[in-house]
Amino acid sequence: MELHVRQSKKIQGQIEVPGDKSISHRAVMLGSLSHGITEVKNFLMGADCLSTIECFKAMGTEFEQTGETSLLVKGMGLKGLNEPRDVLNVGNSGTTIRLMMGILAGQPFFSSVTGDDSIRTRPMARVAAPLKEMGAVIDGRKGGNLAPITVRGGNLKPIEFVSTVASAQVKSAVMLAGLYTSGVTTIKEPERSRDHTERMLTYLGAQINVYESTVQVSGGAELIGKPIEVPGDISSAAFFMVAAAILPGSSIRINRVGLNPTRTGIIDVLLDMGADLRITNEREVNGEPIGDIIVKGGSKLKGVVIEGSLIPRLIDEIPIIAVAAARAEGETIIRDAAELKVKETNRIATVAGELNKMGVEITQTEDGMIITGGSALKGTFCESHGDHRVAMTAAIAGLAAAGETVVSNAGCVNVSFPGFSNLLSKLVV
Ligand code: S3P
Repeated sequence: MELHVRQSKKIQGQIEVPGDKSISHRAVMLGSLSHGITEVKNFLMGADCLSTIECFKAMGTEFEQTGETSLLVKGMGLKGLNEPRDVLNVGNSGTTIRLMMGILAGQPFFSSVTGDDSIRTRPMARVAAPLKEMGAVIDGRKGGNLAPITVRGGNLKPIEFVSTVASAQVKSAVMLAGLYTSGVTTIKEPERSRDHTERMLTYLGAQINVYESTVQVSGGAELIGKPIEVPGDISSAAFFMVAAAILPGSSIRINRVGLNPTRTGIIDVLLDMGADLRITNEREVNGEPIGDIIVKGGSKLKGVVIEGSLIPRLIDEIPIIAVAAARAEGETIIRDAAELKVKETNRIATVAGELNKMGVEITQTEDGMIITGGSALKGTFCESHGDHRVAMTAAIAGLAAAGETVVSNAGCVNVSFPGFSNLLSKLVV
């Protein structure tokens, strides 16, 4: 599938974006581990979250789809999962494999997990190491670092784990394994990563303590299924926020977006760049803050420095931030973001490569990129590299590029944002 985008004057309209990917995954997993029924609304029916459903079906969880984006998860309790009869397949989803490894580590059975070409290159030792320390037996290719991964779980003990990466996937895996111990598991991160697992576990009845970048989980508590309304994904909203900010005359309102402070780095950066952005109608649903985001085009944007504790708060938005930086005056420096190299693709290389083809002055560095704004963009042929966020980034850059931009191999957009291209066509004026 190809995306075709023409240069556009502005985008305009009022929209909602699909449900948050991180929260949708967790609703399936934690719903499965709860007693009773978890009713999920605004679930992201994207490829990644559907992979999570398939994996849990293979372990005996039953699901009932009750609407286009709503479903019931029939929970089986912490100890209700069954040994899967075949290899679990997570497709393209890093969140599925890593969080599920934490759950599998707690099960008294054998399991094996694999995924697509991209997943089979992504590091798993960062999750396997603490889980092994807790007592799980885990192996995989390349000394246990790469999928397929095998897990023989059960009999876990709590640990005090100091993570070297700020990763919610690593933190969450250890937290979920911690539920299967009879003590308190402590995880300390170098910077605070997204905290959806903490919030949802607390909402469903687990005992969680958080102070600064340390989280503690008490084992053994029963989780009780409850309704979960998934907020719109700020990582999906980000594409339209940037589109509106770079196209003068634009005016967009995105309703019901998740505004969890561990995810709102994109808002801080756009404001810092000088964008006309406003939040309204702030409230909370099932322990997650949400609100409506209004962005108007026409403000002059300027380059900024993005580093340190801000990075985990916008790690998935760096590709689209690079597009805002390309339309800003001066230099934008992104550093401390070496994690980008181990996402669905090496996003330092793929983002710099594709934007460079469109005429953006962008240099790769060891842990980020430097973008010099102001060059004219030209439409061209771009390649998604099978990475959903690279595909959408090129498409949004295409709105500001002379002529036509064609993004090839763009079916991957469905991983996180089904309907992206239809929504975009509706907004373009
Ligand atoms: C996610 C955590 C982040 C993010 C990913 C989703 C999650 O990865 O990049 O898209 O749902 O926990 P890391 O925690 O590995 O940085």
